[in-house]
Amino acid sequence: MSKGTYSFTTPIYYVNAAPHLGTAYTTIAADTVARYQRMNGYDVAFVTGMDEHGQKVADVAAEHGMTPQAWCDSMEPAFREAWDMLDITYTDFVRTSEDRQARTVRTFWQDLYDKGFCYKGSYEGWYCVHEETYYAESDLEKNEEGAYVCPDCKRPVQQAGGEENWFFKLSEFQRPLLDFYEEHPDFIRPETRRNEIVAFVKGGLKDLSISRSTFDWGVPLPFDKGHVAYVWADALLAYLTGIGYADPDRPGEFDANWPMQYHFVGKDITRFHCVIWPAMLMAAGLPITHTVFGHGFLLTKGEKMSKSKGNALRPADLVGVFGVDAYRYYFMSDVQFGHDGSISLERMVQVYNADLANTWGNLFSRVTNMTKKYFDAHVPEVAPSFGEGERGAENPLREMSAGLYAAYDEAMARVDFTAAAREVMALAERANRYIEETEPFRLAKDPERADELAFVMYNLLEAIRICALYLAPFAPNTSAEVFRRLGLGDVTEVVDIEAATAWGQLPAGGPVSVGDPLFPRLDTDAIDFDME
Ligand code: MSP
Repeated sequence: MSKGTYSFTTPIYYVNAAPHLGTAYTTIAADTVARYQRMNGYDVAFVTGMDEHGQKVADVAAEHGMTPQAWCDSMEPAFREAWDMLDITYTDFVRTSEDRQARTVRTFWQDLYDKGFCYKGSYEGWYCVHEETYYAESDLEKNEEGAYVCPDCKRPVQQAGGEENWFFKLSEFQRPLLDFYEEHPDFIRPETRRNEIVAFVKGGLKDLSISRSTFDWGVPLPFDKGHVAYVWADALLAYLTGIGYADPDRPGEFDANWPMQYHFVGKDITRFHCVIWPAMLMAAGLPITHTVFGHGFLLTKGEKMSKSKGNALRPADLVGVFGVDAYRYYFMSDVQFGHDGSISLERMVQVYNADLANTWGNLFSRVTNMTKKYFDAHVPEVAPSFGEGERGAENPLREMSAGLYAAYDEAMARVDFTAAAREVMALAERANRYIEETEPFRLAKDPERADELAFVMYNLLEAIRICALYLAPFAPNTSAEVFRRLGLGDVTEVVDIEAATAWGQLPAGGPVSVGDPLFPRLDTDAIDFDME
């Protein structure tokens, strides 16, 4: 029986560039949650998509001699293919140029307009096209030539000459937001992000311009068709579209999935998600997402990876060398979610060799090879008398497995992927040590100890089955392969991982196949590109 819904999102990504390691990072994190919570009995809604409107995209399209729509259409395959390559199991992919998104935008903003939260005014100030944001003169910085530049992206800003815009009364939400943060300490995580946001809101909030009339690549506001919705007043609403908001074809879905559990975002966009978004939801009278998790940046040589700096590697480059599972495992286990993380090829090879080749892959080969040799490639039957009494008490793998669900589940619930991965790897490491301690190769030489050998080998195979289950959210293809080689069913169909990892379910007598190494060792010298 389902435990209920578990809903979350990645940002919907801008279409001016193809997916890179940074956008893939957030998406893989969300997918790790999706895969785990499905195995944990939840109905998962996992929304991602493309953020297509705004002047920036219109400009890029024009540079390519295309209409904005044609340009966005041409980018969709790049995103879909990247996510397919990384085995991302999103449940909806929202494009903001879709009709259903326009309906969401119209419905939502008409509601806020009717409730009196919108007014027409004019803005005297400065505008940055890249950030699609207005700035007061006091917020700006100056470049070396003394010209005003955007405080966020450092690009030159343009003077906004009093154009008429629609505004959302964000300033009214200062107190309600501060109260909300106080009452919901988990709304912004990690703690450092929370402190930044609280300080920002305490500094006062200005009303937010939610429309543009100088270009038309956007959703026209229902109450003033000469204006299109500002990109963020549009994009955030894609989260609602992705679970069927105002969609007559998806009855009941929105109510079942809202509020969501998480929005996973990079720390660059926590303000939009932790200030503007909850204020919009409060105005609409909708409940607010449980947690906005603002993760850190991936850094190479101490610098943020980004397309504009030219240091953005394509996911496919790394998948080509390491494979999808190792790629996913590295980013999830080695970059602590919530902190900035320096990534390098050397480190990736190190983690690959230590955890995947030497610990997990090696355990699997040793145990399956021994099973082939000593038990004709079948899961041994443990003699009923064995495992009781003194010798039976010594089953460290069983003991360790017993506490695993609680620790792993707790880590996954707070999206500490590093801790969750460490829990499983500890069992694999313990199993390798168990081989050294029990010395099955010695037991095999002594016919009087055949029962003991069967017991030891069964324990090892069972520990492998359990590791495969817990590693499935990180390295889904390998776990599926391990299940195949143990003669078990489809690992992704497990819907109660707690029950599935209870000890002793590997059926005796089942076939075990050996096959190629799961993770052949890698040599850094054999890799001929750098991560810059
Ligand atoms: N379109 C907006 C989001 C709208 S959500 C309603 C946007 N798009 S983006 O394409 O610029 O994507 C930004 C996101 O990409 C970040 O929030 C983060 O999730 C991810 N990353 C981009 N570069 C990154 C790193 N170098 N490191 C980690 N993640 C980064 O902002």
